[in-house]
Amino acid sequence: MKRISVAPMMDWTDRHCRFFHRLLSPNAVLYTEMVTANAILHGDKDRHLRFDPSEHPVVLQLGGSEPNDLATVAKIGAGFGYDAINLNCGCPSERVQKGAFGACLMAEPDLVADCVKAMKDAVDIPITVKCRIGIDDYDAKTMLFSFIEKVSAAGCDTFVVHARKAWLKGLSPKENREVPPLDYDLAHEAKKQFGLSIILNGGIATVDDTVAHLANFDGVMLGRAAYQNPGILQDLETTLSGTPPRGLPEIVDAMIAYAADQKARYGAPLNAITRHMVGLPNGRRGARRWRQLLTVDSLRAEKPQDVLIPALKAISEPPELVA
Ligand SMILES: Cc1cc2nc3c(=O)[nH]c(=O)nc-3n(C[C@H](O)[C@H](O)[C@H](O)COP(=O)(O)O)c2cc1C
Repeated sequence: MKRISVAPMMDWTDRHCRFFHRLLSPNAVLYTEMVTANAILHGDKDRHLRFDPSEHPVVLQLGGSEPNDLATVAKIGAGFGYDAINLNCGCPSERVQKGAFGACLMAEPDLVADCVKAMKDAVDIPITVKCRIGIDDYDAKTMLFSFIEKVSAAGCDTFVVHARKAWLKGLSPKENREVPPLDYDLAHEAKKQFGLSIILNGGIATVDDTVAHLANFDGVMLGRAAYQNPGILQDLETTLSGTPPRGLPEIVDAMIAYAADQKARYGAPLNAITRHMVGLPNGRRGARRWRQLLTVDSLRAEKPQDVLIPALKAISEPPELVA
């Protein structure tokens, strides 16, 4: 199950989300949202980087392209206890392109190699890279293979490959996760060509597909499917490691305690935590009521149990079953 990971997703995989995902999957590798090197260098380090010990194994994803800054920030991340550092070479957003990092780095493998080397020299934890198979009109195979060759020579031995190109002009980040076609075969060719660890990402949404890809890759990373339908993390854990899933009452109990603690210590609003749990009972009776309680009622609730206990009841005792 260490071969399953939950993708870095801005606004989604914050520390509250990761705490919740860990309850569902004791073994999956969890990634932070991308944090830019500048935000860590000049911002509130604790706010950007703190996490709950239960989140291990947890990987810090960095955005940046300045080797010295990334080395400094990697050291700070290692000091916080992250299990690995991952460099974002796959994000196509305009903002990220202005900062000259993310997917546009696919065209600058020598610079990425310098970044990886600087980080590797600075810390003992693994440095990994998340990339696309290419960008724009470049030939994907030529670009991906030359990227992996150069970056691995600098010491990166694990690549997370989002198996579609990014088109840097004309598509929104959302479209860039849907429109460019997936090419798992090319990622598999890279796996066979290089003796490296390749983790496949992009469009994988079922337990069966995940298991099938695990035959060809060192790991599978799920993004949207894990966030929108988090029950898949439990199903994968049961299938791959035999761990029986925690029941909903146990998960709700743990989240009540967590939310109360986060509020007491940091003033965290309840809905900032419950919003990540919305998809858990997808498809079950009472799921609509659960969603309403967790998104709307949680804005006004005094205590976490005021919404999470009724939400649990809505699932375990849906109205039509109550006498
Ligand atoms: C809301 C959202 C935010 C994302 N933020 C990041 C990010 O910060 N860093 C990154 O490398 N990829 C980011 N991605 C891309 C995902 O990590 C992943 O590569 C992509 O969604 C494809 O995987 P999927 O089809 O399993 O969702 C984001 C995706 C979504 C949906």
